[in-house]
Amino acid sequence: MTRHFLTVSDLSREELIGVLDRAEELKALRGTPAHPRPLEGKSVAVVFEKASTRTRLSFEVGIYELGAQPVTLISKHTQLDRGELVEDTARMLSRYVHGAVYRTFGHDRLEALARYATIPVVNGLSDKFHPVQLLADLMTIRQSCGPSLEGVRVAWIGDGNNMAHSWIVSAAVAGFDLVLACPPGYQPNEQVLADARERGASVRVVKRPDEALEGVGVVTTDVWASMGQEGEATERKRAFSGFIIDDAAMKRAAPDAIFLHCLPAHRGEEVSASVIDGPQSRVWDEAENRLHTQKALLEWLIV
Ligand code: CP
Ligand code: NVA
Repeated sequence: MTRHFLTVSDLSREELIGVLDRAEELKALRGTPAHPRPLEGKSVAVVFEKASTRTRLSFEVGIYELGAQPVTLISKHTQLDRGELVEDTARMLSRYVHGAVYRTFGHDRLEALARYATIPVVNGLSDKFHPVQLLADLMTIRQSCGPSLEGVRVAWIGDGNNMAHSWIVSAAVAGFDLVLACPPGYQPNEQVLADARERGASVRVVKRPDEALEGVGVVTTDVWASMGQEGEATERKRAFSGFIIDDAAMKRAAPDAIFLHCLPAHRGEEVSASVIDGPQSRVWDEAENRLHTQKALLEWLIV
């Protein structure tokens, strides 16, 4: 059966840990003659309907390092932008390539691509989820806090957006404790929360950052206005006032807490320069880990 990765719960806990362990192996082998090329002779499409820096770089480089050919399509240069159905795109892609990464707006478009494709489909970010980012984030947590994710305490400060949803789903799959502090009107999707809790997730939603930060080992946030929400930037800045992760916020966390951010970041909005550029920040390891984790994921999905 063709497996897809549209959300973190498309993997079981064992499968998730397997991908993260394999990512460490691939990291260690990178640049050596022993690095495997399990996708030799294959091609993988990487399709963008939104902007990207890291996702494009990490997938293109990763696909190449696995021995395959990346084929990047920017939607405005494709027939998708002129109304070709995502269902037809899925059928057509399946005749050419061995896997497809898709960054889009509505999660339903990603589900449609997966439904009509006969090749593995990977979510490169939708309005609802950004699961490949979580693979990198969880790898970074393991590197700093030790191999067991169970019992790690994570605080999400900010918008109840696609990244927040991915943390919520991951709490259920990986077994860490999650507290989200979101301003009124910017809470996570109720169904995403309910589904995760039904799967046993330890997730709380609070109103103020200080209620979430006390003693946690991981502090994380994201932009206040995601792609597609640029027109709401001014009202969002007002709503998120007080939600910056600065030195005072980090002091509430555990002394050895780490700071994560999927990037791109806005210094002086959701995070101060002193934190993102400071000693507790792991954001560059986190960005690098996109490469290792996605290589492990593609190897697992496609080989
Ligand atoms: N974190 C992330 O997905 O970055 P890009 O938008 O640059 O791909
Ligand atoms: N929440 C952000 C994440 C960017 C990687 C967005 O969707 O724009």
